[in-house]
Amino acid sequence: MARELPMRIPDPDLPERVTIYEVGARDGLQNEGAAVVPVEVKVEFLERLAAAGLTTLEATSFVHPKWVPQLADAADLLAALPRLPGVDLPVLVPNERGLDRALEAGVEHVAVFASATETFAQRNLNRSLDDQFAMFDAVVTRALAAGLRVRGYVSMCFGDPWEGAVDPAQVAAVGRRLVEMGCHQLSLGDTIGTGTPGHVDAVLDACAAGGVGVDRIAVHFHDTYGQALANTLAALRRGVTTVDASAGGLGGCPYAESATGNLATEDLVWMLDGLGVAHGADLDALVATSTWMAERLGRPSPSRVVRALGG
Ligand code: HMG
Ligand code: MG
Repeated sequence: MARELPMRIPDPDLPERVTIYEVGARDGLQNEGAAVVPVEVKVEFLERLAAAGLTTLEATSFVHPKWVPQLADAADLLAALPRLPGVDLPVLVPNERGLDRALEAGVEHVAVFASATETFAQRNLNRSLDDQFAMFDAVVTRALAAGLRVRGYVSMCFGDPWEGAVDPAQVAAVGRRLVEMGCHQLSLGDTIGTGTPGHVDAVLDACAAGGVGVDRIAVHFHDTYGQALANTLAALRRGVTTVDASAGGLGGCPYAESATGNLATEDLVWMLDGLGVAHGADLDALVATSTWMAERLGRPSPSRVVRALGG
């Protein structure tokens, strides 16, 4: 394949640069069988992603190991990971116990993850929608006091497998609480991938009306219904400049059965290259990494770009 493709047609209405927030090692691997991905492979995965030019790598989660056994090795992974200069390595932390473990591991950036719906709060966090805030407030207060940065996720922003349609105003209300707590960034999760571009506008409108502008917002699209790239473009047109993606399209959520992989980083990079939006990643190195990881996992990558270029 001639690598002058995709043809670059810059769009003046889009941001000049986008930060790719790579979640493959966390959201991607949290759905794999515990025995399948040993720590050494996770270390190599993160090193390869960094070498491919990605500067934000969500590394793992300090959640209850019984809830997500795939990431029970979080402390071992961070201990085994060589220094990656210039790379931000955020981790998920649901509660104070998780924060203690993350602080012991020396992390500088954590993320709490709230639910926009009652049912998913119960299923994912064992808390009611209201009670989740008390759990996160304690984490955010202590994390900020310790000099950490805290990202806030909101899950089920576009649809919920148990509750169906989710009111954008409810998403905005949950997001606003996280920002008021002190989260520097809000990542809007389409956990089961049901959103469409107009819906993205509606959620961003609701967030703006609730006082959270696009400068604070990142988008996190799962590609279950094939909408992730279209939804990303809609968000870019609104001025969003941080996009979550997962190398090779790995991913899912163990507590939302209908969630499949995230937007594939390679698919995102292909589109950004065509639109002339800078991102800093090396597509060939990413494709090689995802091809290597697909071999480790024993199944092909769901990313269309990895399949097209992977050889
Ligand atoms: P719980 O059972 O209610 O916890 O779980 P608890 O506070 O009652 O504590 C029970 C026991 O667990 C205690 O031990 C704690 O110490 C221990 P005991 O005293 O009985 O011996 N414990 C822990 N141990 C290690 N690390 C911890 C921890 N916390 C408690 N952090 C909890 C509540 C939140 C912990 C649990 O529900 C949990 O771990 N949930 C995480 C589920 C998860 O990781 N889901 C996937 C990530 S979210 C996602 O993928 C969506 C996202 O990608 C965005 C999108 O797509 O929308 C981010
Ligand atoms: Mg996710």
